[in-house]
Amino acid sequence: MARFFITTPIYYVNDAPHVGHAYATVNADAIARWHRLIGDDVLFLTGTDEHGLKVAQAASEAGVSPKEWTDRTARRFIDAWAGLNILNDDFIRTTEDRHHETVRKFLSQIYDNGFIVPGVFSGLYCVSCEAYYNESELEEGERCPIHRRRVIEMEEENYFFRLSSFEERLIEWYASFPDAVLPEAKRNEALSFIRGGLQDISITRTSLSWGVPVPWDEKHVFYVWYDALVNYLTAVGYGRDDEMFTLWWPHVHHLIGKEILRFHCVWWPAMCMAAGIEPPGSVFVHGWLLVGGEKLSKTLVKAGGSDEGGAQVKLTQVAPDLLIGDFGVDAVRYHLLRDTPLGSDGEFSYEGIVKRYNSDLANNLGNLVSRVSTVVASKCGGIGPAPSSNSPLRSAADTAVDQAVLAWQRFAPHAALEAVWGLIGATNAELEECEPWKLDPGPEVDDVLGNSIEALRIIALLIYPAMPASADEIWRRLGLDASPRESLLPRDASWGGYPGGLVVEKGAPMFPRRKA
Ligand code: MSP
Repeated sequence: MARFFITTPIYYVNDAPHVGHAYATVNADAIARWHRLIGDDVLFLTGTDEHGLKVAQAASEAGVSPKEWTDRTARRFIDAWAGLNILNDDFIRTTEDRHHETVRKFLSQIYDNGFIVPGVFSGLYCVSCEAYYNESELEEGERCPIHRRRVIEMEEENYFFRLSSFEERLIEWYASFPDAVLPEAKRNEALSFIRGGLQDISITRTSLSWGVPVPWDEKHVFYVWYDALVNYLTAVGYGRDDEMFTLWWPHVHHLIGKEILRFHCVWWPAMCMAAGIEPPGSVFVHGWLLVGGEKLSKTLVKAGGSDEGGAQVKLTQVAPDLLIGDFGVDAVRYHLLRDTPLGSDGEFSYEGIVKRYNSDLANNLGNLVSRVSTVVASKCGGIGPAPSSNSPLRSAADTAVDQAVLAWQRFAPHAALEAVWGLIGATNAELEECEPWKLDPGPEVDDVLGNSIEALRIIALLIYPAMPASADEIWRRLGLDASPRESLLPRDASWGGYPGGLVVEKGAPMFPRRKA
């Protein structure tokens, strides 16, 4: 059995979950669900990053202890993911004992191997990034390029990771594993950063205590990024459960946003090398959802919760649960997966969701489900006829399955869904061509309806990773047992699986149209 280990970044708990975090998590969830469907043994990991200055500051601004703050905010992420029907196998919090233990073991190993040394560091630091910058990287000479926040001068006596010793080995690693970092443009970006020369980096702090203490010098805590990256090892038992560790490492797929490329594609493989373990198997770098120049609609402003003086609502103010209230979980998941291909940036707008919802869900999928069940009720006595082996829809179904298999494999949920919508379109077109609603009951009507039900059964299987509740609902309405999740693909998606003779339910519209 193949094993499939996928991770999201672990999110900072300085703030509440927003739709950008949801984008990464829903994509990872759908990919994980697909892999379960094809029979892989899956480990899907997400979690929260709870140490560091940024979190300590958020807690102090709220007037509570860091522990109280992190408990409260981590809960918000756990609840948000439950609300989005995320099926993670593990949720890691970096304040857990298992993580502290792993960080200490892993970094002590690097120290024992001679790649961590004492030194003095001074530099320009962005609190939001929890990272130092060179002056040349700053905007207007003083602002961090990501947050545009003013950097601060920091000087610390601390320990350094000898990143500079890994330049050659990293370049060799990139040459040996051409697919380790994808898309290719991101791989090239990481490589050119490495080729530009690597400097040693400071990895401990004495200026704060909210972190994992350094085992060989307890006045220091590890710099939050060094602690955070190790979460991927904590979850697979590094230093605690060798059997589990060998099963899952290094066969991991890290899904990350483009702003944390350097940490995952330069530091992280180097840290693994320094500790004497294999670097991560693969890193897939996704783009950002942006809220662009257009004035946002009232509803999004409402969803964002604040619009002082008509100011543009920031993406960080859009909470996933408010969108779910307006559209339903599966529509939000669908929008996130379908509209912004992994690897590209995408525009996020309320109007965009409405448009996509009405065209793909209300007019296409929802319409197909209603038509089939209505005509089965009126012309077939509510019992679904069996499909025929020479249906014109058969090749459309086979194509959709083949394309979906390839698309999920290459981390392209949008393309997998596009393929399914090809089959939905073909099935609607076939119904429109035959117009069974105008015919008298009989073999011709049975043939079209049997084939449409079979197409819908395959559609339900193929949309399951993206829209699990809707897939279950279609399955149930067709009178099928259990749930799509118990199927094995591609085997069970081959034409002819629907036996015929089952009661088809005529339910309420699945995706009623929305007003923009
Ligand atoms: N804690 C670090 C990650 C440590 S991983 C070892 C961190 N946290 S974060 O809360 O800032 O989350 C960053 C991730 O959230 C991004 O890499 C991305 O996956 C996701 N997103 C945050 N904002 C986003 C958008 N606007 N658009 C798309 N994804 C976004 O960095």
